[in-house]
Parts: sequence; C-alpha cells; structure tokens
Amino acid sequence: MKIERRPTTALLPNPVVLVSAAGGAGDGNFLTIAWVGTVCSSPPMVSVAIRPSRYSYDLVSAAREFVVNIPNAEQLEGVDVAGVWSGREHDKFAELGFTALSATKVGAPLIAECPVNLECVVRHQLALGAHDLFIAEIVATHYDEEVLDSRGRLKPNALHPFTLVGGEYWSLGERIGLYGAAAKARAKE
Ligand SMILES: Cc1cc2nc3c(=O)[nH]c(=O)nc-3n(C[C@H](O)[C@H](O)[C@H](O)COP(=O)(O)O)c2cc1C
Repeated sequence: MKIERRPTTALLPNPVVLVSAAGGAGDGNFLTIAWVGTVCSSPPMVSVAIRPSRYSYDLVSAAREFVVNIPNAEQLEGVDVAGVWSGREHDKFAELGFTALSATKVGAPLIAECPVNLECVVRHQLALGAHDLFIAEIVATHYDEEVLDSRGRLKPNALHPFTLVGGEYWSLGERIGLYGAAAKARAKE
C-alpha cells in the first residue's frame, strides 16, 4: 500500500558537495550543498541550488563562477560545519583546515582535500522560490591521482562520497551492477 504525504523533495541519493567561490577575507569561501545535479553531458553542465541569504550566493552571483568539490566521508566533520558557518563570520579555509588551490579556468579556488573538483562557469540563473538554481558549464575537471586507474578512468571505490537523507549522512554501498549489462543479457535471450 502507498502512503501519500505532502509534496516534498524526496529524490535521493544526492551527493553532498562543497561549492567554493572567490571573494571574502581569506582564500575564498565555500558552503555545503546537497542540492546539486548533473544536467547536461554536452556541454557538460551541473546545477546547484543556493538560497539568496547565503554569503556564497552573493559571491557566485557576482563572479558567475564556482567550483564543485566532491568530498570524501573522511571530511564529513568539516563539511558539516561548512554547512552551518557562514563566510560572513568565518574564514572557513583557515578555520576548518582546508587548502585552497588555484583553479586553471576560473577565479574560484579548488579545495585540495576533495578528490574531484569541477570548475564551473554560470550560464543560467533561475529564481525558483526558496532557492536560486545556478546552471553552469564545467570548464575543467581535476582528479587526485589516487582515484584514477592506469588508463585514467575513475576508480569508484577510491572515492567515498556521501549523501544526506532525512538529516542523516549516509555513504554509498557496494557495486550492484554494470551499466547496460541487463539490456545486453535480454538481447541475447
Ligand atoms: C548537508 C548540508 C546541505 C546543505 N545544502 C544546501 C543547499 O543545497 N543549498 C543551500 O543554499 N544551502 C545548503 N546548506 C546550508 C549552507 O551550507 C549553509 O547555510 C552555509 O552556512 C552557508 O555558508 P555561506 O554563508 O558561507 O555561503 C546545506 C547545509 C548542510 C549541512
């Protein structure tokens, strides 16, 4: 039996990421974002939803650039605090022990401790209500050497991304299948 509840954003899992932007007192600022999505493959594009009250909203709106940094579960504590503290009162890089690296295509810093970093240029901004959606083109992607195999492919088990579900952080489980394998098996029947 299905139980209907009030409309809510029950889509999961969404990775929790750190979105960094240029500006502020120190090396730049970043905030924790759960509302992030892949929205186009060519050009490669992502979306992030940011409330206008966030300091990061001002920085991203002004620069039209940001970096999506994918943290590991080991960085959970810093990610959680970055989602409560504001760059208006804190230098999050210095106080949370994260390292800013220069990006190659945008002015926003990469967060060195995050194994994957997507440099983004904003192409569209939509005011949706509580959040504005920034739809951005990925203009450069960086990986830690350790998360790539000898052929330069991402090793999923070298990353430990996590998601937010009902106020709890959860990691992902084991590999459960291969892309296209089920369709291939059916084609053989
Ligand atoms: C797990 C988690 C997910 C969050 N997701 C979002 C989000 O998708 N959009 C948003 O505007 N704020 C989100 N927040 C809240 C901001 O990260 C938080 O308000 C932060 O302090 C803003 O920092 P800033 O003022 O330096 O930009 C999230 C917080 C946490 C802890």
